[in-house]
Amino acid sequence: MKLIKNLFIISLLNLAILASVLFFTPAPQTVPIPQTALSSEKCVIVIDGLHYDVTSFRNQHPGGDVFVCGTDMSTLFHSQHPQSFLKKLSKYQI
Ligand code: HEM
Repeated sequence: MKLIKNLFIISLLNLAILASVLFFTPAPQTVPIPQTALSSEKCVIVIDGLHYDVTSFRNQHPGGDVFVCGTDMSTLFHSQHPQSFLKKLSKYQI
């Protein structure tokens, strides 16, 4: 009987410890990141030796955000698009 009583006290103590650990553990701090900040970093790519700032275009591109900023994307561009599409990029040239 005494053993059962001791076991009961121990399990109550364990519960109390668990409850206090849960109570005092601070919730992880989450910092909301605005969606615009995720893709607003300036993104410049090179096609056929010319530089394009695609920072705003990368969100509008029908083929999705395929851009690897700071790289020469000529091969990928030409593999997916006719040469005439370069004209559509002219406004982004810097
Ligand atoms: C995996 C690579 C790519 C895929 C799958 C892809 C896919 C597409 C698709 C499906 C379209 C729409 C085509 C249409 O309107 O007939 C498009 C348009 C376009 N893409 Fe890509 N693209 C890729 C890479 C690129 C790259 C590297 C550039 C460089 C800036 C680029 C620039 C453009 C431009 C300027 C347009 C025309 C947008 C417009 O009509 O307003 N694409 N792309």
